[in-house]
Amino acid sequence: MKNIDAVFHVRGESEYVDDLPQPAEMLFAAIYCSPIAHGKIVQCDLKKANDIPGVAAVLSAKDIPGENQIGPIIQDELLLADGEVHYAGQPIAVVIASTPQAARKGVKAITAEFDESPIITDPKVAYQMGEIIGTPRTLAIGDVDAAWEECDIILEGTCTIGGQEHVYLETQRARAIPMEGNVIRVHASTQSPYATQRTVAKILGFHHNQIEVDVKRIGGGFGGKEDQATPIGCFAALGAWHTGKPVELVLNRSEDMRMTGKRHPYISDFKIGAANDGIIVAFEVNHYQNSGAAADLSTAVLERTLYHSTNSYFIPNVQVTGTCCRTNLPPNTAFRGFGGPQGMFVIEAALEKVAEVLNKPKEEIQGKNLLKRGDPFPFGQLFQNNHIQRTWEDTLNSYDFDGIQTRIDQFNRDHFATKKGYAVMPVCFGISFTTTFMNQASALVHVYTDGSVSVTTGGIEMGQGLYTNIAKIASEAFGIGPERIKIESTNTTRIANMSPSAASSTTLLNGNATVLAINQILSRIKKFAAEKLNVTSADKITISDEKILHNGRETGLNWCDLIQKAYLARIGLSAHAFFATQDIWFDKKKEKGEPFAYHVVGTAIVEVTLDCIRGRYDIDSVKIVHDLGRPLNERVDLGQIEGGLAQGLGWVTTEDLQYDQKGQLLSNALANYKVPDVYFMPDDIQVKFLEDADSELGPYGSKAVGEPPLMYGIGAYFALRHSMKAFRPDLEFALHSPLTPEKILMSLHPELLNDLKNHDTSPVSLAEETI
Ligand code: MTE
Ligand code: MOS
Repeated sequence: MKNIDAVFHVRGESEYVDDLPQPAEMLFAAIYCSPIAHGKIVQCDLKKANDIPGVAAVLSAKDIPGENQIGPIIQDELLLADGEVHYAGQPIAVVIASTPQAARKGVKAITAEFDESPIITDPKVAYQMGEIIGTPRTLAIGDVDAAWEECDIILEGTCTIGGQEHVYLETQRARAIPMEGNVIRVHASTQSPYATQRTVAKILGFHHNQIEVDVKRIGGGFGGKEDQATPIGCFAALGAWHTGKPVELVLNRSEDMRMTGKRHPYISDFKIGAANDGIIVAFEVNHYQNSGAAADLSTAVLERTLYHSTNSYFIPNVQVTGTCCRTNLPPNTAFRGFGGPQGMFVIEAALEKVAEVLNKPKEEIQGKNLLKRGDPFPFGQLFQNNHIQRTWEDTLNSYDFDGIQTRIDQFNRDHFATKKGYAVMPVCFGISFTTTFMNQASALVHVYTDGSVSVTTGGIEMGQGLYTNIAKIASEAFGIGPERIKIESTNTTRIANMSPSAASSTTLLNGNATVLAINQILSRIKKFAAEKLNVTSADKITISDEKILHNGRETGLNWCDLIQKAYLARIGLSAHAFFATQDIWFDKKKEKGEPFAYHVVGTAIVEVTLDCIRGRYDIDSVKIVHDLGRPLNERVDLGQIEGGLAQGLGWVTTEDLQYDQKGQLLSNALANYKVPDVYFMPDDIQVKFLEDADSELGPYGSKAVGEPPLMYGIGAYFALRHSMKAFRPDLEFALHSPLTPEKILMSLHPELLNDLKNHDTSPVSLAEETI
């Protein structure tokens, strides 16, 4: 199937929040944010904003009728600052006006005086000062302390891992409309309609059933709208409640970049011990997560970092510790991979170091330590199959890895200033929300008397192809054509208490709920068909290609006839069903359990070419064997693999998130924050799906696809390092991500840097800092 949204997208017909027709008298909101990163608000003059023509209301913390609290896990975040601010970009007041321009003019007119406090931007500094969120957590297996003695080599290192801006095409936005009887309807661009519903209710002091949230689709979320779309809905709803008019809030790109949290930067210290043959004996890591000024989802993100700290490898003695460190940056949040990428980066860096010291190719070390069926992860769960080894071997064989090596080695011998590099990157990613209770979903299915079908689930279409997947599932389950299926907007009055669309689990959860709802309708109409056809067993009735079969033979009855007759016989043609993933659990006291329904795995080979004089590089090719189970829609899944890969490549190469010492975002626009574009992407991307890998749990044998491919991008980091080492085998390079061209250039030519240092010009000290 084609992505059913493709036609609407290409014609510009797809509806997003601000494509909805404007209701009469709609007002517009803009947010006054803290200009400083930490301090007390001594005074704040909102009156001047009120004087701007068109301004209808200026709202601050004292205007919140309910509770001024939006923290999703830990109650530590205010909707509007009250007395003090903790990051630059923290909302202080909302201006409501007749036009977006007037609202922004109102914001500009606000003046405030602050008593500034010291600022922390570094997670290790925060840790030392006791600024931690929640409690540090440790997963352990074996006995690392005893194991060091068995190691032939022991190495230590530190990784500095950058954050990442989501750059969803549709910036954060919401429209709130007051309705009859103290009800507010919110059209939101959120991955989590229920979080918006319950939080708007909380800040207004309403019941949940007084808030209706509707989401047609969103223009990308990537985790950035899992939680951080919630305050946007709250601002619009607060404005609507105060003015009695519809209110829309649309952040522009720079507001969005400044105000919202991103992927968490990490600093991680590791120690790894190996035998001379390359078998890893012990691994210890300490992750300092830069959480920003409030918890947001940080504790959950950290949990996944811990779970993925050994990536695709079995290591018998492991101790991984992680701490959420509170800094004066916007609260960092979910981003595709949800902490997994940082965990995997560190183990890959550690294996790189082992390979360097043992003077062996890295892929030899990786290959020797891959997880096998039955091997335990540090959290106790056993790895269920041999798919890591299968994808690893399939990748190396199908893409002629030996040939790639020979070709690249030859190229590097033949060229002085241009070097090539390669890396192999296995990925093993756990599927399920690690917070067990969130693994639930429901669906509502109607069959109309003309045989057409309407499906609502709690899942959000964010570009990942959910609607196409659900349409495919519904069409397979009913045995009718996909053109008969319509997927409805996601709405809290039709589906209650939904989990966010996240953790790559949306199709798994909502697709299974859809199948269960359809099965209810099918069992009713099949029973009816058996009666009509005068046969005893409804079990022998099937529907295929819209024909009603008995024992596999045509009965002359078709889908539309059956539905009409069932309706006249007063058979219910609607159903609601609920699905929850079984057999997953976690005991946080023991730090053991089985948090994942299964793992998605795969292996990639990444090749790069580096211009060692200019620092510029190309990602030449990425070749993947990926375990998808049985794809629901190959093209949709391929889109997810390529899109995830693009984001992973960007994260470790050009996306350089920088804050200055005062906590101000320097990379605050797409002019100075470089995301991969179509030219940056490798010309040669090859993806093979692992065969015979059906999932027992996924609808029709499918597996989750959304996040895991991002982590193939990490291979580009190590491929670039490989090319750097080919040029300067004499140097040792730091393990800092991203590897921007600038950083590569400075690392390859440290002598130049020293020369420049003697001139003592300011750009050099900046450059030095980024190295
Ligand atoms: N793909 C597109 N086009 N847009 C998105 O916002 N989000 C990613 C991934 N792929 C995203 C995307 C993230 S972070 C997740 S968790 C999954 O999609 C969510 O959708 P799924 O559960 O259906 O895979
Ligand atoms: Mo995705 S980071 O789980 O929204």
